[in-house]
Amino acid sequence: MRIFSGIRPTGGLHIGNYLGAIKQWIAMQESNECVFCIVDLHAITTPYDPKELQKNILETTAVYLAAGINPDKSVIFVQSAVKEHAELAWLLETITPMGELGRMTQYKEKSKQHKDYINAGLFAYPVLMAADILLYKTQAVPVGKDQEQHVELARTIAKKFNQKFGQVFPEPESILPKVGAKIMSLTDPKKKMSKSDDPKSCISLFDSPEDIQKKIMSAETDSGKEVIYNVTKKPGISNLLTIYSLLTGRTTQDIEKEFKGKGYGDFKKALAKVVIDYLEPFRRKQKELQTRDVYVKDILDKGASRAKTIAETTMQEVRQKMGLA
Ligand code: AMP
Ligand code: TRP
Repeated sequence: MRIFSGIRPTGGLHIGNYLGAIKQWIAMQESNECVFCIVDLHAITTPYDPKELQKNILETTAVYLAAGINPDKSVIFVQSAVKEHAELAWLLETITPMGELGRMTQYKEKSKQHKDYINAGLFAYPVLMAADILLYKTQAVPVGKDQEQHVELARTIAKKFNQKFGQVFPEPESILPKVGAKIMSLTDPKKKMSKSDDPKSCISLFDSPEDIQKKIMSAETDSGKEVIYNVTKKPGISNLLTIYSLLTGRTTQDIEKEFKGKGYGDFKKALAKVVIDYLEPFRRKQKELQTRDVYVKDILDKGASRAKTIAETTMQEVRQKMGLA
């Protein structure tokens, strides 16, 4: 199967990004053709600092590599290095109704968040994402829950294109992790963990052990004192149990048993240790890669050239079908 997914290089990737998306990618690269993108053209639709963008791109690449994406097996590249993404996005915009885009939850949320930055790029964001996916004739898109609606729109656009101009694109499906598709904020467990929120609400993959310890110990918990998984009654503890379970491979029942009769404090201390140990290789790899810019850039160059070969072939077909060639 051809797999495609991407993350915006907006800095400070967190364990939600890892557990919702990247962790799934690792298993998939063994038996599929995987393309993993750093979507810089998406990152510029919300306020950003141009001076930081290149640094964030390299940092996101370091996360991919530290997490275990193997550049010999998977294609890793930067979206803007393959111009066909922007070209296909434009072409697909001409068959996407404005109404569909106005309904997108992320657009509504982001335009509320950045009232003075509601640009046409933010509105057309899901069409660029559809172009990313369709350019590689992708069958499956591993993402977190918040991106399901966008992948659904990519399906609709693929169907419409095929009906209007002739069969070109498979209809892509999203793949969500069974658990962890929505990791919640540490300070408000009713909201998803997000890098644009308060730093205390979110554990970055490169946080220092001291910061991780502090954030987990002060994470919002619920009334009562038993460590029990119950999303409606104990959303805070349930979120922490989910993280514990995903990082150790143990079931939540098993973890509940271990902490029976103990309080939230003991549980949080143990979780802090689990998270600190799990993320240790990320911190190490990031430090190592910071001194190896040339190596990382070389991976991205090779990735872009492999991606371009596939993208060009698709575009020739698309231009022909649409009467542009
Ligand atoms: P973004 O940082 O918005 O570019 O998201 C990159 C990937 O991480 C997407 O597949 C998202 O669905 C996923 N993701 C982001 N936040 C979370 C979260 N809190 N829980 C699970 N997955 C998430
Ligand atoms: N929109 C996604 C997000 O905010 C990132 C993204 C862009 C993406 N293009 C994609 C994800 C293609 C999957 C496939 O997380």
